Amino acid sequence: MANIILTGDRPTGRLHIGHYVGSLRRRVELQNSGKFDKIFIMIADAQALTDNADNPQKVRENILEVALDYLSAGLDPEKSVIFIQSMVSELTEITFFYNNLVTVQRLQRNPTVKAEIQMRNFNDSEDADNKAGTPVGFFCYPISQAADITAFKANVVPAGEDQKPMVEQTREIVRKFNSTYAPVLVEPDILLPEEAVCQRLPGTDGKAKMSKSLGNCIYLSDSAEEVVRKVKGMFTDPGHLQVSDPGKVEGNTVFTYLDAFCKDEHFEKFGSCFIGKKVSFEFHNLEEVKAQYRAGGLGDMMIKNFLAAVLNDTLEPIRVRRKELEQNIPYVYEVLRKGSEIACREAAQTLKEIKAAMKINYFDPGVLEELIETQQHKYSE
Ligand code: TRP
Repeated sequence: MANIILTGDRPTGRLHIGHYVGSLRRRVELQNSGKFDKIFIMIADAQALTDNADNPQKVRENILEVALDYLSAGLDPEKSVIFIQSMVSELTEITFFYNNLVTVQRLQRNPTVKAEIQMRNFNDSEDADNKAGTPVGFFCYPISQAADITAFKANVVPAGEDQKPMVEQTREIVRKFNSTYAPVLVEPDILLPEEAVCQRLPGTDGKAKMSKSLGNCIYLSDSAEEVVRKVKGMFTDPGHLQVSDPGKVEGNTVFTYLDAFCKDEHFEKFGSCFIGKKVSFEFHNLEEVKAQYRAGGLGDMMIKNFLAAVLNDTLEPIRVRRKELEQNIPYVYEVLRKGSEIACREAAQTLKEIKAAMKINYFDPGVLEELIETQQHKYSE
């Protein structure tokens, strides 16, 4: 069986470091591993419109932002097909047929959709500006996501844990389709980040999730100064008042980020962050820093300076590439246009097989002749 990846993001904003450790970094590694026959990276504009129907301009602008973030982070259009979801109309058609294989009750049980409906107050009938109610398209987006994945016969979906219910629902649709019609579709597996800390990076305020509306993100495109400023304002251990006090590492966002980004080599590069006027430390790895923080005597400022240096070390090459690409926007759109063309060809092939399996390929070569013959026969008795 071919080894095929499909994954993607909604273009509702620039990508942040949560996207990076949760999925993007891994995608680039997988892309460069040479282990995959095909890789499809989708900018899910149609899915973004399911709860942004009144704001197409926002979605349109963010397609470019996400594409810039992808290319800057190391996705290579020679190795990965980067495309725009709405440009592949076959996906809509496939969704329409999958709609028949899923119940309203099953969709209502999808935990991610449930949480998102709650977050957006769609269920709040008291909503004064009359926005209450869940758009049908939004409610059904797991079905459209199943179409995205299966149209490319992807067996691997690298994504964050919030996408687990989507992939689970896709697997159910695949089983249902294959057993009802014919074994055309491939059951995908989700590929979660290896380290738990990367599965859901908290916001700089310590809140469960990085999200644009909460204003607690560090973006891949933030300048070095912005990163320093945001790190300085970060949530640490509220009980760590005096430098000499013992500090808590668990639930301390600065350490959570270090867990996600820090490598031993960063200590050779940025060890000087731990040299102050009154105290200085020599650390070789993150465990030593944690031990000292727990024991007391290590100030938040030192670990924040170190984190800012580590983050900027990771983000600098991405920023440099972004600056270059920002000067060549026609190239970025050309990548998307070409990618969308390839994606259309792939999805069209699967749609053909889907229609044949569902016996809705009436006018395909050979099929029409056979149809005429059998149906005519019925009346010639
Ligand atoms: N739901 C994903 C997100 O919120 C985007 C997405 C759409 C996707 N279709 C997909 C992800 C298929 C993986 C596979 O960002």
